[in-house]
This record gives sequence, structure tokens and C-alpha cells, in this order.
Amino acid sequence: MATDSSVDEVSSNSPVVLITGCSTGLGRALVLEAASQGLRVIATARKISAIENLRAPNIAILTLDVTASMSQLEDFANKALTVFGQVDILINNAGYPLVGALEEVSSDQTLGIFKTNFFGSLNVANVFLPHFRARHSGTIINISSMMPYITTPGSGPYTATKAALDSITKVWAGELAPFKIRVMGVSLGFTRTELLGSNLNTVENTVKNPIPDYTIVRELHEQVRALYGHEPNDVQKVAKRIFDVVLTHNELPVMFPLGDDAVTSADEYLNQRRSEFEKWKELGMGVSADD
Ligand SMILES: NC(=O)c1ccc[n+]([C@@H]2O[C@H](COP(=O)([O-])OP(=O)(O)OC[C@H]3O[C@@H](n4cnc5c(N)ncnc54)[C@H](OP(=O)(O)O)[C@@H]3O)[C@@H](O)[C@H]2O)c1
Repeated sequence: MATDSSVDEVSSNSPVVLITGCSTGLGRALVLEAASQGLRVIATARKISAIENLRAPNIAILTLDVTASMSQLEDFANKALTVFGQVDILINNAGYPLVGALEEVSSDQTLGIFKTNFFGSLNVANVFLPHFRARHSGTIINISSMMPYITTPGSGPYTATKAALDSITKVWAGELAPFKIRVMGVSLGFTRTELLGSNLNTVENTVKNPIPDYTIVRELHEQVRALYGHEPNDVQKVAKRIFDVVLTHNELPVMFPLGDDAVTSADEYLNQRRSEFEKWKELGMGVSADD
């Protein structure tokens, strides 16, 4: 077992990972897994008190609300870079769910979930990219979801944030390859965290005026609530697999379905899209300009 001094020794040369949303769930599991693999970790959360007990010789803690303004995020990045002198891996993990039909969720609620799940990841990455580009090195991991493969009724706003995140993950993969910056989106399946528990039904993400016609959405909400505590994937195994992939492979998949449910959903999605494409592709051709 490593002594305190050997932990410090390993830490001084090991990669530095910064993780958002570490108060519970996957963020917390990623912090513990990274530290156990000898990485130096900057754990962040909106409330520092929620991560105080993570503090360790190779784990620093900082306050971060990913919806902060760009100037606040730039200040945060400057501060984070002084902790260990560098950041090598950024994990955009912070996010929250919202269940409701697209028609009944208020535009403020939709904007709110985009501010965290989409703009939070985009903006936090953007304040670290100058550092990554200057060093011609760095890895961005965006924690997405299998929901863009499934597009279940009632998951609209949440799914849209993750689909948008997947889109910029793919664009970044091309834009950042010349700088040797790796980018990977994790299409995560249902995992045992607080997502479907205390964070599913907060006041700000509860539909204010449900439309009774949408029985299918209410049924889905009940199914999702009932899944809490019985999600098929184990959060610590998920965290371990993410680091196993990131630390042992030079080349990363742009999109990485994680969890048996996610792999099955991705497979079904790709088969359906391929068969629909084959059926309709002739009608999509033959509209070129005559010159
Ligand atoms: N669990 C699943 O089944 C599942 C499946 C697919 C994808 N995901 C994704 O996995 C990621 C982690 O979620 P989880 O499953 O670990 O759920 P969780 O236990 O609810 O954790 C979500 C974390 O995000 C943080 N957060 C929310 N808004 C934030 C903000 N504005 N700034 C900073 N942190 C914020 C929360 O912090 P507070 O305590 O401050 O609220 C919390 O620590 C999310 O992006 C989620 O969409 C989860």
C-alpha cells in the first residue's frame, strides 16, 4: 500500500484531471477513481461544502457553477491552472434531468437545462482550450447520454441538450485534432446516481402546467422514478471504465456508448437509421443544379 510520501511522488508527475459536478454520482466516482489510479484531481462543485470530504494530497477542491459567466469561468480556469500547474484531462460531467412533453415544458426551463448541460460544457471547455492548444495536448471528455439514440417521449429537453453536446463533441474532434487534443463523448446508459433520485424532481425542473393529454409522458415519468436505485449500471465501474479507456488508448472513439443498455440502444439506432436511409436514399438524390 502506498505511503503518503509515495502518493505525493506519483502525483507530481501524473496527469491532472479536472471534473465538473462532483458533489454526487458519477462526478464523485470519477474523482475517487482518478485518485486511486494515481492521477492528480481537481474536483469541483457548486457548493464547496459538498466536496470538502474529498480533499486529499492528490485531490484539490474548487467551487464551480458551470453556468457562470465567461469572465467568471476564465478566472476559474486561471485559478485551476495554478493548483498543479496544468490540466491534462477535462471531464464535463455536470448535468441534470428534466421530464416533460416538449409542449408543456416552459421555454425558461428548456433554456435552463441547456445552460447547464450544453453551454456549461461548451464554455468550460472553451476556457481551458487556450491552455490545451498552447501545449498541443489535452483530453476533453463530455458525459452525454444514450437518450439521443432512444428519443423517448417526455425526454425532449434533456435529450436535446445531450444531442447538441454530441454534435459539438464531433465538431471538436475535427477542430482540435491538429492540436493533438483528444475529444470523447460518453453515451452513458442508466447508472445508479442521484440523477433519477433527488435531482429528478427539483422545483426548477418540474413541469408547472402539465397537459393531461400527455398520459404517455406521465407514464414514462413514473417508470423513470421507479428505476431509481435499480439502474442497470454501477457508477464506480462506469468511472473505472472511462479512465481505463482514456489512459490506455492513444486514439479515443468520438462517441463511446457505455453500459450494456447504451450499447444495445446504439446498435438498434444505427440499424434503424441504416435501414431508413437505404429505403429513402434514391428520393434524396437527383436535385443537383443543371450547371
Ligand atoms: N445517471 C444516469 O443514469 C445518467 C445517464 C446518462 C447520462 N448521465 C449524465 O451523467 C452526468 C452526471 O450525472 P449523475 O448521473 O452523476 O447525476 P447526479 O448524481 O444527479 O449528479 C449531477 C451532478 O451535476 C451537478 N450540477 C448540476 N448543475 C450544475 C451546475 N450548474 N454547475 C455545476 N455542477 C452542477 C450536481 O451538483 P449539485 O449537487 O450542486 O446539484 C451533481 O453533482 C450528467 O451529465 C448526466 O446527464 C447520467
